[in-house]
Amino acid sequence: RPRVLSGIQPTSDSFHLGNYLGAVRQWVALQDEFDAFYFIPDMHAITVSYEPAELRDRTRRSVAQLLAVGVDPERSTIYVQSHVPEIAQLTWVLSCITGFGEASRMTQFKDKSAKQGTDAAGVGLFTYPILMAADILAFEVDRVPVGEDQRQHLELARDLAKRFNSRFGKVLKVPEAYIVSEFAKIYDLQNPTAKMSKSAESDRGLINLLDDPKKSAKKIRSAVTDTGTDIRFDPAEKPGVSNLLTIQSALAGTPMDVLVDKYQGKGYGDLKVDTADVLTEFVTPLRGRVAEYMDDPSHLDDILARGAARARSVASTTLASVYDKVGFLAPE
Ligand code: TYM
Repeated sequence: RPRVLSGIQPTSDSFHLGNYLGAVRQWVALQDEFDAFYFIPDMHAITVSYEPAELRDRTRRSVAQLLAVGVDPERSTIYVQSHVPEIAQLTWVLSCITGFGEASRMTQFKDKSAKQGTDAAGVGLFTYPILMAADILAFEVDRVPVGEDQRQHLELARDLAKRFNSRFGKVLKVPEAYIVSEFAKIYDLQNPTAKMSKSAESDRGLINLLDDPKKSAKKIRSAVTDTGTDIRFDPAEKPGVSNLLTIQSALAGTPMDVLVDKYQGKGYGDLKVDTADVLTEFVTPLRGRVAEYMDDPSHLDDILARGAARARSVASTTLASVYDKVGFLAPE
């Protein structure tokens, strides 16, 4: 079976709606057809300021959320990045074939380092995309399901794979992005031309799956909508309305044209109330399931131990070929 792989950072107590609709929901759908590898990039999470105890908790909580949305440990390999040391080892080799200018052009690095100031930003933030390339290239991956904001990083991974292969001989598989255009960018409810993100200035436009549904419903009811009164899917002219339609359509499983028809003759208020209801119905049982998983950390740790063993067996094979090709003397 072809392989998919993706990761979500443990940098928050909860996945947000953009993470879920843009990425994790696809992960669940892809488990049947693909040999799926899903992981928590804790090494990426330490490239920005953080608290160690919080990181540990958020790593488990991320796994609990994956299970709660339907990632199935019987069908998917679920692991934590730092449990697979071969990834860091491959990162070093890849960093030696990455251009300094090439890494400097990564827009996420430019944004994040501009926010923090060049001195506060660590070198890890700079090499972050190379670590991400290693995450992927260690596993002979066919498809990488991500949101639009990861496209440039994925392009780097592809470039590095091709460069390695042409310099040293064909070892690394060149991965394809898997980006579902309808959901590739979920927008901030207060600023519907910017992506929903936990690092936005205000969290009023951010829906966290594990927040109290009443709080989230309120955020949806105060979402910024557009001029005019008619409800149609038109991201250019009606970004706010289109974002709410996208969210509702995805969570309720209602095709967009059916949904838009339903709103003929109705107003923005109806759209907001219904979207808030659909979200509440989705997150209420989800919160319960996450709490149950969090009550049994040893069950989570068992799943991660099995995942790490499988992940290491794949990554160590790739790493051995890479080490051989680059001319490292094999240890006796
Ligand atoms: P992260 O943790 O920021 O986000 C996880 C996933 O959520 C997607 N996403 C969105 N999709 C649509 N609309 C939004 N508003 C939105 N916000 C976030 C992201 O595109 C991502 O797919 N570098 C990665 C983690 C990573 C990774 C990897 C991914 C590390 N190694 C290897 C794939 C393969 C990141 O920071 O995602």
